[in-house]
Amino acid sequence: MTVEHVATSGTFSLDGGTWEVENNVWLVGDRSEVLVIDAAHDADAIAEAVGDRRVVAVVCTHAHDDHVNQAPALADRFAAPILLNPAEAPLWEMTWPDRKPDRELVDGDLLRAGGVELRALVTPGHSPGSTCLYAPELGVLFSGDTLFQGGPGATGRSFSSFDTIISSITERLLSLPPGTEVRTGHGGSTSIGDEAPQLEEWIVRGH
Ligand SMILES: [Fe+2]
Repeated sequence: MTVEHVATSGTFSLDGGTWEVENNVWLVGDRSEVLVIDAAHDADAIAEAVGDRRVVAVVCTHAHDDHVNQAPALADRFAAPILLNPAEAPLWEMTWPDRKPDRELVDGDLLRAGGVELRALVTPGHSPGSTCLYAPELGVLFSGDTLFQGGPGATGRSFSSFDTIISSITERLLSLPPGTEVRTGHGGSTSIGDEAPQLEEWIVRGH
Protein backbone atom coordinates (compact mmCIF):
# COMPACT_ATOMS: atom_id res chain seq x y z
CA MET A 1 0.00 0.00 0.00
CA THR A 2 1.36 3.37 -0.92
CA VAL A 3 0.57 7.05 -0.89
CA GLU A 4 2.41 8.91 -3.62
CA HIS A 5 2.59 12.63 -4.18
CA VAL A 6 2.84 14.62 -7.40
CA ALA A 7 3.21 18.41 -7.15
CA THR A 8 1.86 20.35 -10.10
CA SER A 9 1.47 24.04 -10.84
CA GLY A 10 -0.93 26.16 -12.84
CA THR A 11 -3.72 28.63 -12.15
CA PHE A 12 -6.97 28.87 -10.22
CA SER A 13 -9.72 31.12 -11.58
CA LEU A 14 -12.97 32.18 -9.94
CA ASP A 15 -15.07 35.33 -9.63
CA GLY A 16 -13.11 37.06 -12.39
CA GLY A 17 -9.68 36.60 -10.81
CA THR A 18 -6.82 34.25 -11.69
CA TRP A 19 -4.06 33.17 -9.33
CA GLU A 20 -0.92 31.06 -9.72
CA VAL A 21 -1.19 27.96 -7.58
CA GLU A 22 0.68 24.79 -6.74
CA ASN A 23 -1.43 21.70 -6.14
CA ASN A 24 -0.88 18.35 -4.50
CA VAL A 25 -2.03 15.32 -6.47
CA TRP A 26 -2.21 12.08 -4.47
CA LEU A 27 -2.03 8.51 -5.74
CA VAL A 28 -3.28 5.86 -3.35
CA GLY A 29 -3.10 2.12 -3.98
CA ASP A 30 -0.41 -0.43 -4.65
CA ARG A 31 1.81 -1.65 -7.46
CA SER A 32 -1.11 -2.70 -9.66
CA GLU A 33 -3.82 -0.08 -9.17
CA VAL A 34 -4.33 3.42 -7.81
CA LEU A 35 -6.88 6.08 -7.12
CA VAL A 36 -5.90 9.53 -8.35
CA ILE A 37 -7.03 12.28 -5.98
CA ASP A 38 -7.34 15.68 -7.70
CA ALA A 39 -6.12 15.67 -11.30
CA ALA A 40 -4.48 19.10 -11.27
CA HIS A 41 -2.64 20.98 -14.05
CA ASP A 42 -0.34 18.36 -15.55
CA ALA A 43 -1.84 15.19 -16.98
CA ASP A 44 1.54 13.99 -18.28
CA ALA A 45 3.21 14.24 -14.86
CA ILE A 46 0.33 12.41 -13.22
CA ALA A 47 0.26 9.73 -15.92
CA GLU A 48 3.98 9.22 -15.53
CA ALA A 49 3.53 8.63 -11.80
CA VAL A 50 0.70 6.17 -12.51
CA GLY A 51 2.85 4.28 -14.98
CA ASP A 52 1.30 1.06 -16.23
CA ARG A 53 -1.03 0.66 -13.26
CA ARG A 54 -4.79 0.60 -13.51
CA VAL A 55 -6.54 3.80 -12.40
CA VAL A 56 -9.56 2.76 -10.35
CA ALA A 57 -10.99 6.28 -10.38
CA VAL A 58 -10.15 9.94 -10.67
CA VAL A 59 -11.53 11.33 -7.43
CA CYS A 60 -12.17 15.06 -7.14
CA THR A 61 -12.21 16.56 -3.62
CA HIS A 62 -14.10 19.51 -5.12
CA ALA A 63 -14.55 21.19 -8.48
CA HIS A 64 -12.48 24.36 -8.32
CA ASP A 65 -10.79 24.46 -11.70
CA ASP A 66 -7.29 23.88 -10.32
CA HIS A 67 -8.43 20.52 -8.91
CA VAL A 68 -10.34 19.27 -11.97
CA ASN A 69 -8.66 20.78 -15.02
CA GLN A 70 -7.01 17.46 -15.97
CA ALA A 71 -9.77 15.12 -14.74
CA PRO A 72 -11.23 14.33 -18.18
CA ALA A 73 -7.76 13.93 -19.71
CA LEU A 74 -6.74 11.43 -17.03
CA ALA A 75 -10.09 9.65 -17.11
CA ASP A 76 -9.86 9.21 -20.87
CA ARG A 77 -6.23 8.18 -20.83
CA PHE A 78 -6.81 5.44 -18.23
CA ALA A 79 -10.47 4.60 -18.96
CA ALA A 80 -11.32 5.55 -15.38
CA PRO A 81 -14.47 7.13 -13.98
CA ILE A 82 -14.51 10.66 -12.54
CA LEU A 83 -16.04 10.84 -9.05
CA LEU A 84 -17.42 14.08 -7.60
CA ASN A 85 -20.03 15.10 -5.05
CA PRO A 86 -23.16 16.31 -6.87
CA ALA A 87 -23.29 19.60 -4.92
CA GLU A 88 -20.18 20.62 -6.88
CA ALA A 89 -22.10 20.73 -10.18
CA PRO A 90 -22.23 24.56 -10.45
CA LEU A 91 -18.44 24.77 -10.13
CA TRP A 92 -17.76 21.73 -12.33
CA GLU A 93 -19.88 23.20 -15.13
CA MET A 94 -17.78 26.38 -15.18
CA THR A 95 -14.81 24.31 -16.36
CA TRP A 96 -16.55 21.39 -18.05
CA PRO A 97 -19.95 22.52 -19.37
CA ASP A 98 -20.17 19.68 -21.88
CA ARG A 99 -19.07 16.80 -19.70
CA LYS A 100 -20.41 15.34 -16.49
CA PRO A 101 -18.60 13.37 -13.79
CA ASP A 102 -19.23 9.64 -14.20
CA ARG A 103 -20.29 8.84 -10.66
CA GLU A 104 -21.60 10.69 -7.64
CA LEU A 105 -19.32 10.64 -4.63
CA VAL A 106 -21.52 10.86 -1.54
CA ASP A 107 -20.95 10.80 2.19
CA GLY A 108 -19.96 7.36 3.47
CA ASP A 109 -18.93 5.98 0.08
CA LEU A 110 -16.14 3.43 0.36
CA LEU A 111 -13.48 3.46 -2.34
CA ARG A 112 -10.87 0.77 -2.65
CA ALA A 113 -7.57 0.56 -4.50
CA GLY A 114 -4.76 -1.91 -3.93
CA GLY A 115 -6.04 -3.00 -0.55
CA VAL A 116 -6.51 0.56 0.73
CA GLU A 117 -9.99 1.57 1.77
CA LEU A 118 -10.97 5.23 1.66
CA ARG A 119 -14.17 6.62 3.13
CA ALA A 120 -15.75 9.77 1.70
CA LEU A 121 -16.44 12.45 4.31
CA VAL A 122 -18.48 15.27 2.82
CA THR A 123 -17.23 18.50 4.41
CA PRO A 124 -18.91 21.50 2.76
CA GLY A 125 -17.74 25.06 3.32
CA HIS A 126 -14.81 25.75 0.99
CA SER A 127 -17.31 24.71 -1.67
CA PRO A 128 -20.80 23.16 -1.45
CA GLY A 129 -19.74 19.55 -1.91
CA SER A 130 -16.12 19.52 -0.79
CA THR A 131 -15.23 15.97 0.17
CA CYS A 132 -12.35 14.55 2.20
CA LEU A 133 -11.12 10.97 1.87
CA TYR A 134 -10.15 9.07 5.00
CA ALA A 135 -8.02 5.93 5.03
CA PRO A 136 -8.32 4.57 8.60
CA GLU A 137 -5.78 1.78 8.10
CA LEU A 138 -3.18 4.22 6.83
CA GLY A 139 -4.13 6.86 9.38
CA VAL A 140 -4.32 9.39 6.57
CA LEU A 141 -6.89 12.01 5.62
CA PHE A 142 -6.85 13.62 2.18
CA SER A 143 -8.37 16.97 3.00
CA GLY A 144 -8.61 18.72 -0.37
CA ASP A 145 -9.05 22.42 0.37
CA THR A 146 -11.04 21.90 3.60
CA LEU A 147 -8.18 21.73 6.12
CA PHE A 148 -4.63 22.97 5.77
CA GLN A 149 -1.56 23.36 7.93
CA GLY A 150 -2.65 26.41 9.95
CA GLY A 151 -6.33 26.65 9.22
CA PRO A 152 -9.43 26.02 7.17
CA GLY A 153 -9.60 26.41 3.40
CA ALA A 154 -10.49 29.78 1.91
CA THR A 155 -14.11 30.85 2.13
CA GLY A 156 -13.95 34.37 0.70
CA ARG A 157 -15.20 33.60 -2.79
CA SER A 158 -18.46 32.42 -4.35
CA PHE A 159 -20.06 29.17 -3.21
CA SER A 160 -18.09 29.24 0.08
CA SER A 161 -19.17 29.62 3.72
CA PHE A 162 -16.91 30.12 6.74
CA ASP A 163 -19.53 28.97 9.27
CA THR A 164 -20.14 25.85 7.21
CA ILE A 165 -16.46 24.94 6.90
CA ILE A 166 -15.99 25.40 10.65
CA SER A 167 -18.92 23.05 11.30
CA SER A 168 -17.53 20.50 8.86
CA ILE A 169 -14.06 20.59 10.37
CA THR A 170 -15.37 20.43 13.93
CA GLU A 171 -17.89 17.65 13.39
CA ARG A 172 -16.22 15.51 10.75
CA LEU A 173 -12.47 16.02 10.96
CA LEU A 174 -11.41 16.98 14.47
CA SER A 175 -13.16 13.86 15.74
CA LEU A 176 -10.65 11.69 13.85
CA PRO A 177 -7.71 10.24 15.82
CA PRO A 178 -5.17 13.00 16.68
CA GLY A 179 -2.39 11.08 14.97
CA THR A 180 -4.19 11.16 11.62
CA GLU A 181 -1.89 12.64 8.96
CA VAL A 182 -3.56 15.30 6.85
CA ARG A 183 -2.48 15.39 3.21
CA THR A 184 -3.74 18.67 1.82
CA GLY A 185 -4.67 20.02 -1.59
CA HIS A 186 -1.96 22.70 -1.41
CA GLY A 187 1.20 23.05 0.65
CA GLY A 188 2.54 20.90 3.44
CA SER A 189 1.00 18.07 5.37
CA THR A 190 -0.15 18.32 8.97
CA SER A 191 -2.07 16.19 11.47
CA ILE A 192 -5.42 16.38 13.20
CA GLY A 193 -3.67 16.68 16.56
CA ASP A 194 -1.56 19.62 15.37
CA GLU A 195 -4.56 21.53 14.01
CA ALA A 196 -7.28 20.81 16.58
CA PRO A 197 -5.96 23.18 19.30
CA GLN A 198 -6.21 26.14 16.87
CA LEU A 199 -9.94 25.90 16.23
CA GLU A 200 -10.96 28.76 18.54
CA GLU A 201 -8.28 31.00 17.05
CA TRP A 202 -9.65 30.41 13.54
CA ILE A 203 -13.19 31.19 14.65
CA VAL A 204 -12.07 34.45 16.31
CA ARG A 205 -10.06 35.61 13.28
CA GLY A 206 -12.83 34.57 10.87
CA HIS A 207 -10.81 32.70 8.25
FE1 LIG B 1 -10.38 25.02 -3.87
